[in-house]
Amino acid sequence: MITTQEQYSTAVAEARTAAAAYYTDGTSAIDDDAYDRLVREIQAYEEAHPEAVLATSPTGKVAGGAVVGDVPHTVPMLSLDNVFSAGQLVAWATSLERRLGRPVEAWSVEPKLDGLAISARYRHGRLTQLVTRGDGVAGEDVSHAIGTIAGLPARLAEPVTVELRGEVMMTAKQFEDACAKRQAHDGTTFANPRSAAAGTLRAQDRPYVCELTFFGYGALPHPDDTSEQAASLRELPHSEVMAWVAAQGAQTPAVTDVGGIVATTLEEIQERVEHIAVRRAELPFGIDGIVIKCDLAADQALAGFGTRAPRWAIAYKLPATEKITKLLDVEWNVGRSGIIAPRAVLEPVVLDGSTVSYATLHNVADITRRGLMLGDSVVVYKAGDVIPRVEAPVVHLRTGDERPIPIPQVCPLCGDEIDASQERWRCVRGRACRVIASIGYAAGRDQLDIEGLAESRIQQMLDAGLIADFADLFFLTREQVLGLERMGATSTDNLLAAIERAKAQPLSRWFCALGVRGTGRSMSRRIARHFGSMDAIRAADAEAIEAVEGIGPKKAPGVVAELAELAPLIDKLVAAGVTMTEPGWTPPATPGPDATAGAEPGDTSGLPLAGMSVVVTGSMSGALEALTRNQMNELIERAGGKSSSSVSKKTSLLVAGENAGSKRAKAETLGVRIVGPKEFAGLVSKFI
Ligand code: IVH
Repeated sequence: MITTQEQYSTAVAEARTAAAAYYTDGTSAIDDDAYDRLVREIQAYEEAHPEAVLATSPTGKVAGGAVVGDVPHTVPMLSLDNVFSAGQLVAWATSLERRLGRPVEAWSVEPKLDGLAISARYRHGRLTQLVTRGDGVAGEDVSHAIGTIAGLPARLAEPVTVELRGEVMMTAKQFEDACAKRQAHDGTTFANPRSAAAGTLRAQDRPYVCELTFFGYGALPHPDDTSEQAASLRELPHSEVMAWVAAQGAQTPAVTDVGGIVATTLEEIQERVEHIAVRRAELPFGIDGIVIKCDLAADQALAGFGTRAPRWAIAYKLPATEKITKLLDVEWNVGRSGIIAPRAVLEPVVLDGSTVSYATLHNVADITRRGLMLGDSVVVYKAGDVIPRVEAPVVHLRTGDERPIPIPQVCPLCGDEIDASQERWRCVRGRACRVIASIGYAAGRDQLDIEGLAESRIQQMLDAGLIADFADLFFLTREQVLGLERMGATSTDNLLAAIERAKAQPLSRWFCALGVRGTGRSMSRRIARHFGSMDAIRAADAEAIEAVEGIGPKKAPGVVAELAELAPLIDKLVAAGVTMTEPGWTPPATPGPDATAGAEPGDTSGLPLAGMSVVVTGSMSGALEALTRNQMNELIERAGGKSSSSVSKKTSLLVAGENAGSKRAKAETLGVRIVGPKEFAGLVSKFI
């Protein structure tokens, strides 16, 4: 809390510097949340000490009063007031209706695009000038960017004179391209799409061109324009203005599935807010909230404007997905296949509603490329289900106490050499490095399900030289196992029986047990269903592997190479008498006189879940209570469906048990059919 005049003036100066950086080149030293908090504290102090307010204070000003421009706007480019909860939204709408003296019958609800506000001036249908928001009264001329912004055509469909207002931003793809270009040019990358867009919009003398994207949120005729066309545009409801903008050939959020809608009740607004919030993590561009506006021109006119923002609109801010925190340490973990992966240990921060203490750093090249150091302030991103990641260091917050990140010279697990020939470093011993974990994984409940094989037991067998990989388990004799310490006759027999039972596991589980990189449980099931036998998988080349849904040209060669590496292990399994086939699978019919009319592999017609994409969430009960998530997925697939872990428009059915959370909410907003465990068990009873 700010209590003294000195603290107050320091805070004002800090907010001003941050706002100047944010609105010009996007390199603010504090994140959005911290900035909002700072301004709120300044405001609280000013309310208590109105006589002490500094002229430089950011409160009540567009862009915090920190930016100026030299091109006057025809109509001021204002900011928006914020609310942060459903309750605050209702309070705002109620007080607006009281002020208007009548209910608002139509509200526009649209995404708040996290880019840079721009005014695009068209004369007789031609794009003539681009101006940034600046201080809201005058902005900077950035017309040099004309021709580099997708969604902002050089010519409109009609020869109209109008100003389009909207946001300029970078989509995920454009950001990736921009980073690659900058990397090739000077070895650096951009911190995030917003600052990349800000820098790109203002850059005039870069030797490379990066593409930007425009989304419109308004259209204004010139205030002096007395033509009929101008008059009629001024009278249109906001939703129809947006349809007109789109018809002129400019892009609006309507091209996405979070585009503007008209709501007539507060419940409908709230529903749309939730829908947009749920979709946020998957959108290819950043949004930081939802904007709610009076749709009718008459309501807007009656509500009018404050000095900083219109009274007829509000921004419902969503929780931050990006924050600045400290990089405390870097841990090096060796994965099952020997991949050495760095992980950032962070000072905990709340991001998108959950506390984040670790984030992925991908690989060594990534660390060097970003120039990260221990003790750095770093930008961390997390939204929805994505794995939190470190975006970039905030270089101008360095104190001089930062230290280089120690890069391992030998494998951190076994001390052997590192194969650094690929971007992802790997222990030269590959999967042998993590042999205990690999064997433990293969024997796990969702793979071969061999009970009684704890890590300590595996270690004992490795030490005794009885096994070197999981295939050796199938050659163990009773005497060998009995000879181990703490191994009685009963536990020996139980273990050997469990190993014997594992031989009957379907191909999907055998394939999963191999631990091929990038092929988890569901991918293994898809591969197994596609090929039917381990022999067929081994005979496949990259092209044939690519035919499996979800395997792209990038992944397929890696799968083939790893299978070749695993050949001795698979041979051993064959020698142990394991068949490794998928039950119920019939080979595709071969042409010719003797061709049998077998069902196509994967032919599911006639099964209860045929053609359906099914997601499971919450805890199962009744007949399904004992099933792991993997067993539920196997059940779905036996019944002809496709299992998936996330709800989307394509989901046909959500099986929701107790304590179902965000997936249920998402299914509700998308109108996906939801059933409980009992009803679902009834649907697939023949397959349980
Ligand atoms: S309407 C009179 N609609 O957010 C001001 N603004 O934080 C009307 N923004 O200055 C603005 N998406 O630059 C509006 N759908 C949207 C928006 C949007 C992003 C920006 C805009 C505004 C800022 C306020």
